[in-house]
Amino acid sequence: MTDRSPSDVRGKALIDILTSGSNERRPLWFMRQAGRYLEEYRKVRQTAGSFLDLCYNPELAAEVTIQPLRRFDLDAAILFSDILVIPQAMGCELGFVQNEGPKLSTVRNLKEVEALTTDNTVEFLSPVMETVKLVKPELDDHVAFIGFCGAPWTVATYMIQGGTSQDRFLAKKAAFDGEPWFDLLIDKLVVSSIDYLVAQVEAGVEVLQIFDSWASDLPDIQREKYCYGPISRIIEGIRERGVTVPVIGFAKGLGAGQIDFCQKLPVQAIGVESSLPVDWIARELIGKTVVQGNLDPVLLDAGGEGLREGVRHIVSRLPKNRHIFNLGHGVRQTTHIDHIYQMIDAVREFDG
Ligand code: CP3
Repeated sequence: MTDRSPSDVRGKALIDILTSGSNERRPLWFMRQAGRYLEEYRKVRQTAGSFLDLCYNPELAAEVTIQPLRRFDLDAAILFSDILVIPQAMGCELGFVQNEGPKLSTVRNLKEVEALTTDNTVEFLSPVMETVKLVKPELDDHVAFIGFCGAPWTVATYMIQGGTSQDRFLAKKAAFDGEPWFDLLIDKLVVSSIDYLVAQVEAGVEVLQIFDSWASDLPDIQREKYCYGPISRIIEGIRERGVTVPVIGFAKGLGAGQIDFCQKLPVQAIGVESSLPVDWIARELIGKTVVQGNLDPVLLDAGGEGLREGVRHIVSRLPKNRHIFNLGHGVRQTTHIDHIYQMIDAVREFDG
């Protein structure tokens, strides 16, 4: 037993801001905080073999989830996995090719969508839930544990294109043509995502983030139908199943559409991209929701005075009880870890 007084005990700033807005400090974590910029990650990754072998090895996935917390004073850990494990659980073939990214067997017609199963999600992904159970007891009391899934639109783009693509043309065309198989694919992704998120929460995660990395592909009408709609249905679905944890929606690239996104969806916070002006965020979003973001990952990669000024610009304009410090997208592989320390020190310094 320690003899700390209650005021010495740090609460979970991330949970506090999302549930009551009475956090003592500005919560700070960053997307892809577990990853290749860390030498200890590269080591474990090599031991595991492939990226997917790492995702499905609970001991090693738990280790890399915790690694950034050993180095940095962060307010959250994010489960180590990937958004593309859902298509795999549905029956798609998935592989990650070095320097090329994900490769999936394609889904482009009704027959191929009908062949996908939603019956097996939690069983197929049980190693991920094992990872959650291994990580949870290792986290300090002030660290919130974030689980996640991809939003149906973004995941569908990878399934239709067969991997990363420049313009998601085939996926957009299927959506814009109103293909019935496309609607069925989105419905199936909603069902699997609900099961997966409920299982993550049952295993121990305390916050959920939904990644819609390609939300900016969709014009107004399709955005309602394929971005807002499916994400709302996922959140309603987990609430019906008794999940009460806060949800962060990250629909990257919506720009002025972030106003609609935070008002129409039952989210507790939104993540925003780096291109959104901070003064605009302060004026248009902060009064409506808690905002997460949006330091440019390249500023972090560059380090030095530019990074410091970038951090000051954000921290001085966004109040600490309405803002979660993060990047506008994931940390880049080439980022020097000294720059991460610089970023964290600058956030704390400017917050006083
Ligand atoms: O630390 C964390 O943020 C948690 C783990 C996490 C990963 N991917 C690990 C990962 C999370 C939350 C994701 C989300 C994810 N995955 C998204 C949404 C966010 C975004 O980046 O827009 C997307 C689109 C994917 C799909 C994906 N996974 C791609 C396109 C790639 C290849 C690109 C790359 O960086 O290599 C991945 C691979 C991936 N996911 C890595 C990591 C650490 C790198 C794999 C490796 O070690 O070789």
